Amino acid sequence: MSNIESVLNEIRVFKPSAEFVKQANVSGMGAYRTLADAAQKDYTGYWAKLARENILWRKPFTKTLDESNAPFFKWFEDGELNVSYNCLDKHLATQAEKTAIIFEADDGKVSKINYRDLYARVCQFANGLKSRGIKKGDRVIIYLPMSIEAAVAMQACARIGAIHSVVFGGFSAKSLHERITDAQACAVITADAQMRGGKVMPLKSIVDEALTMEGCDVVKHVIIYRRAGNEMQFNAPRDAWWHDLVAKQKTTCEPEWVGAEHPLFILYTSGSTGKPKGVQHSSGGYLLGAILTMQWVFDYKPTDIFWCTADVGWITGHSYVAYGPLAVGATQVMYEGIPTFPDAGRFWKMIQNHKVTTFYTAPTAIRSLIKLGSDLPKQYDLSSLRLLGTVGEPINPEAWMWYYNTVGQTRCPIVDTWWQTETGCHMIAPLPGAVPTKPGSCTLPIPGIQVAVVDELGNEVGTNQGGSLVITKSFPSQIRTIWGDPERFKKNYFPKEMRGAYLAGDSANRDEDGYIWIMGRNDDVLKVSGHRLGTMEIESALVANPLVAEAAVVGRPHDIKGESIVAFVVLKSARPTEAAKAKEIVEILRNWVSKEIGPIAKPDEIRFGDNLPKTRSGKIMRRLLRAIANGEEITQDVSTLENPAILEQLKEVVR
Ligand code: WT7
Repeated sequence: MSNIESVLNEIRVFKPSAEFVKQANVSGMGAYRTLADAAQKDYTGYWAKLARENILWRKPFTKTLDESNAPFFKWFEDGELNVSYNCLDKHLATQAEKTAIIFEADDGKVSKINYRDLYARVCQFANGLKSRGIKKGDRVIIYLPMSIEAAVAMQACARIGAIHSVVFGGFSAKSLHERITDAQACAVITADAQMRGGKVMPLKSIVDEALTMEGCDVVKHVIIYRRAGNEMQFNAPRDAWWHDLVAKQKTTCEPEWVGAEHPLFILYTSGSTGKPKGVQHSSGGYLLGAILTMQWVFDYKPTDIFWCTADVGWITGHSYVAYGPLAVGATQVMYEGIPTFPDAGRFWKMIQNHKVTTFYTAPTAIRSLIKLGSDLPKQYDLSSLRLLGTVGEPINPEAWMWYYNTVGQTRCPIVDTWWQTETGCHMIAPLPGAVPTKPGSCTLPIPGIQVAVVDELGNEVGTNQGGSLVITKSFPSQIRTIWGDPERFKKNYFPKEMRGAYLAGDSANRDEDGYIWIMGRNDDVLKVSGHRLGTMEIESALVANPLVAEAAVVGRPHDIKGESIVAFVVLKSARPTEAAKAKEIVEILRNWVSKEIGPIAKPDEIRFGDNLPKTRSGKIMRRLLRAIANGEEITQDVSTLENPAILEQLKEVVR
């Protein structure tokens, strides 16, 4: 762990204003400590009380936590509930007329839906799914653009107990195929196309392509939401239009009551092997996490207009678009398009027009908007904002300060939220009316969450020393298993050395105030524009190309994207020495990766060598490659290299 050093030296501290503290759901450090202490005193009692207060149970639970088969923990196991009931039916008596979703399309067209109509649409679609024989426990792939329909589809699955797996619209047919077969899904819900930045980007044709691949005959139903009206193939009886499916359906649908441990969804994410992991979440524990963090971290108030910019294809779009905001009865903004269309003022304009109070986005978006127009926010009225948030990667203090000064006009606390697909909801984040913030730190764990920074042997390291971030106690919203691969789940997240603690895969350090500073991943996972990508996945995609013999992929720090992807490739034929030829192969391989995984995984740079630097035992020397990619002085021992001349080759950038 010696290479992990604390690089940040940030000393600014921002206390919430007296005004913010006064109105906060958790008001002041005293209130934060009261909650945290309650969890210390009686851990299961603490969570049981919160679960009883915040969830409508069809059948109350009597057992809170079952650790007998750790790490396969069970929470509230004998309780029964329905997540969609908790997000929709719950509000009908009290706020049926309240706007649930303000949807803004790519072209600026706005549509609003209230809780009553959302409930009716979810019920109709749920009935439509049932009419096709889709039932509790079935897996349903959702491959949709950001839309009210995406929220409806997820909620409808939850209503009938079907397990959804949302696949981000930027993934390729190959990636879609991999997820369909791993989940053994019987249905795919998609759209004819998605609109992004004024462009029509087909989705249904990608589904069609995926469904011709091996093993995809498990899919019996394809339901298509007509978004763009573009040409596409229609294969009856497998295919059905969304509007036809719901046309004659009733607007009520009795929810399927499920046990608290019934899987609500599977969401695929990258790890350190070539195969994505199907992260399986529960119903009860997951819902509790989403609700509590809406109240604690986002300080949710009924008057808020909440906007989380994440796509529903990621965990952030699950917890803070599809479930959390609806469960607390919020009005939320949902946006179809990209931050820079028609210009880099789009977000600020939308905040102004919809009077957004709570805005949650990724550092990479903030950095790109600074670059494209650091003064643009000043052209809009952002006075509705009261709270800002970030997620997905460490935020550099400069971007934090800009967000604080220019967007929040020094009035809004910033919640830098650390969590993962696997944790389901925020784990380390300031409660904004209590915890003072430091730019670049996600601050303190939310009350009840127990974290530590440890060395390779699982022993806690000292103050300001780098180590691995672990969560030492099971918590309700955590991953239950990797779909179809419990062994990998155990090995990956609960390795023996960690003695029962959950290993997050991040390196971090804790300062003298107990504040956590995340330093990045300490496995072979990259964070590119906030997207999580495994280097192995990109390597396997590259070597699947007939031109490629071997490939190694590393990350390189990037001003806007956080990290960029650099690939070192050995071709089956001789290394291209002529610039034009090299460039041509680079383009072929970049497009290839885009086809194999999706445009988000396209390498930014590809370099060629006669071979790759390896240790005597044949392991690729990644640290050396990282140094080369960064243009750093090479300090590693390279005396064992078979062919030191290749280092010069690998330093060469193809232009
Ligand atoms: C990884 C998880 C959590 C939803 C979006 C990403 C990094 C996440 C922060 C933060 C520093 C962060 C970590 C983590 N990360 N939030 N506030 N500060 N790093 O979910 O795709 O599962 O990625 O994102 O490296 O392990 P994900």
